[in-house]
Amino acid sequence: MHIAVIGTGYVGLVVGAGLAETGNDVVCADIDDGKIERLNDGEIPIYEPGLEPMVRRNLGAGRLRFTTDVGAAVRQSSVIFIAVGTPPGEDGSADLQHVLAVADTIGANMDGEKVVITKSTVPVGTAAKVRAAIEARTDHEVHDCSNPEFLKEGAAVEDFMKPDRVVVGIDSDYAREVLEELFAPFVRTGNPVIFMDIASAEITKYAANAMLATRISFMNMVSRLCEAVGADVDMVRYGIGTDERIGPAFLFAGVGYGGSCFPKDVQALIRTMHEHDLDAGILEAVEAVNAAQKRLLLDRVVERYGEDLGGRTFAVWGLSFKPETDDMREATSRVVIQGLVERGATVRAHDPQAMDEAARVLPREGVELVENNYEALEGADALLIMTEWQPYRRPNFERIVATLKEPVIFDGRNLFRPGKMREMGFEYVSVGRPLRLT
Ligand SMILES: NC(=O)c1ccc[n+]([C@@H]2O[C@H](COP(=O)([O-])OP(=O)(O)OC[C@H]3O[C@@H](n4cnc5c(N)ncnc54)[C@H](O)[C@@H]3O)[C@@H](O)[C@H]2O)c1
Repeated sequence: MHIAVIGTGYVGLVVGAGLAETGNDVVCADIDDGKIERLNDGEIPIYEPGLEPMVRRNLGAGRLRFTTDVGAAVRQSSVIFIAVGTPPGEDGSADLQHVLAVADTIGANMDGEKVVITKSTVPVGTAAKVRAAIEARTDHEVHDCSNPEFLKEGAAVEDFMKPDRVVVGIDSDYAREVLEELFAPFVRTGNPVIFMDIASAEITKYAANAMLATRISFMNMVSRLCEAVGADVDMVRYGIGTDERIGPAFLFAGVGYGGSCFPKDVQALIRTMHEHDLDAGILEAVEAVNAAQKRLLLDRVVERYGEDLGGRTFAVWGLSFKPETDDMREATSRVVIQGLVERGATVRAHDPQAMDEAARVLPREGVELVENNYEALEGADALLIMTEWQPYRRPNFERIVATLKEPVIFDGRNLFRPGKMREMGFEYVSVGRPLRLT
């Protein structure tokens, strides 16, 4: 099939490369000239495991192309994916300007019957707006579909190539046939392609992210009770996660959720509920718990050292919002580092992949980015762990003790066993576990 993917970000690039991998002829279009130039040189603008070889392979085979000419990409294709960003607007609702701008360009370049699939996460009712924008520009038949994407950054290639399920909202038999054929290579082991009406597909994406965010906030709430009474949230997690009605995923207490999806999607769903005069109490609570949790390590530092952190230095390990990505959108590290710097502290920070992004988004004053995680410890009063990257899980503790001014660790990801840390002489603060072990 001849396919255009419009918007070549985290999602568009994975989708484009994945569809080319199964033999399709794919053109990825984006209005960001710099990004397209780099991609045409075989350079991948983001860190995502397995993506680079897949892009290079398909570029080399001539099945994958990159362009800034969105109109030409539309004209060359019979199937078009819209994968542009839907960032939060000022009121929290999803900003649809990019999606609708693409719909307008599609309409202006329709030269035959085409299937147009919205992959961006969009509020219920958006597919109808996309169709209206296209039909305002053309008499050619458009088959409008919703195909929300469930990939996780850090495992995006694996998730796209072997999805648990594919959700597709359609309102024509033709679209169903085309998409059944397109997705067949990805579900050979029997995982379902679930066809439904378009509104249900649009809601499914928000409901999935809101449910996952709810689990995280729920456990973070429970972690506060565990701290208050000296219980261990990891044992509670194990205790409930083994109940098959609950399951073990997304139950880790920590420093809250970040990233480009959960925060904005929870907000957008609240907004949609309100637009329909419906109560969004659960989601509002999920957001409030998360906002408090993102400040947790900052609050712990202030409890320990006081409001004035002038003259103090803190090492931070992990800047991306989760491991195996360089994405720092809504990352908790940003909240904590901003709070430390505002109180006069110096921060020495390390991340295995997000250093370029960190240089772009972190405050310049008061933050030093260092190439090696042990170098971050030099002259530091304490270490804060923000992201559970693998290399941080089994560090050289003797070296940490020898390098920090005092052996103090604030662990936002519960990487270590509190008893062991105490034995090694650390003052060790983690999440939802006994704060002071005797
Ligand atoms: N990142 C994820 O993990 C993830 C997962 C599932 C769904 N989503 C959803 O997918 C969508 C895209 O997310 P992302 O993280 O890939 O965003 P992104 O910001 O990484 O990429 C969006 C791309 O769209 C381009 N763009 C904007 N306007 C354009 C236009 N008019 N024409 C062509 N290109 C244009 C931008 O230049 C950018 O490269 C969002 O709706 C998001 O909610 C993201």
